[in-house]
Amino acid sequence: MTTQQNNDQTLPQHVAVVMDGNGRWAKKRFLPRTAGHKAGVKATRRLVELCAIKGIGALTLFAFSSENWSRPDQEVSSLMSLFVSTLNSEINKLHEQGVRICFIGDRTRFSENLQASIAAAEEKTAANTRLKLNIAANYGGRWDIVNAVRSLSRKLADGDISEEQITEQAFTRELCLVDQPEPDLFIRTGGEQRISNFLLWQIAYTELFFTDTLWPEFNDAAFDEALDWYATRQRRFGKTGDQVGDVQGRQAG
Ligand code: IPE
Ligand code: IPE
Ligand code: MG
Repeated sequence: MTTQQNNDQTLPQHVAVVMDGNGRWAKKRFLPRTAGHKAGVKATRRLVELCAIKGIGALTLFAFSSENWSRPDQEVSSLMSLFVSTLNSEINKLHEQGVRICFIGDRTRFSENLQASIAAAEEKTAANTRLKLNIAANYGGRWDIVNAVRSLSRKLADGDISEEQITEQAFTRELCLVDQPEPDLFIRTGGEQRISNFLLWQIAYTELFFTDTLWPEFNDAAFDEALDWYATRQRRFGKTGDQVGDVQGRQAG
């Protein structure tokens, strides 16, 4: 697997994905929802590979939201088992492919077994640089923000910072994904056009792509469709179209 040279400014550096529609995919086939989650793993695995091949530096996947605990116990426990088995079976291959794995979210609620698999995966792949794979598990955008507020409050109370030092930059440094560029492209499959408490602060200027494709059916062509759409966007960051020139904010001329 070779990586394409990524000098292409129309290619996102960081892609964030809400992988939605596993349950509906299964329902259409008269299968249990868990079969949809299993099928979803295959689509996930391929997307990771595609990002590495295309030279996209970071991929953040929403695997389990802090609200997903409200699902039936049986679905939650089968998802947890799937996380453990997938991590354990894929880790060596991901490592060989130069993927660095990082989990974001409150992992303390997971079983010891899953926490151990997460720690092992992060440790094994810590020095890899080809693709940063962030897996959001028991993650919520509001949780992320509240954590940042708590951390800054502690620093303020301890006298380590002044009120004036609470800036957007200082706040951002307390959030998950601080070491990476903000997502350029957000993709949500499954037809819903909502964020569902995924990254909130971090997607302030992200391009949002929604597709009806159900997650297990998200294939090479579907990803290319999202990338082609992204390549046509003119990112203005508050400026006028004339100021930013070409698409992607590249200066004309
Ligand atoms: C997304 O698929 C996977 C998780 C939330 C873990 P869903 O399970 O939400 O699938 P639908 O939305 O019911 O089809
Ligand atoms: C968002 O999907 C969470 C993940 C994909 C992990 P949901 O299926 O939980 O979102 P809602 O409930 O439809 O908003
Ligand atoms: Mg859903």
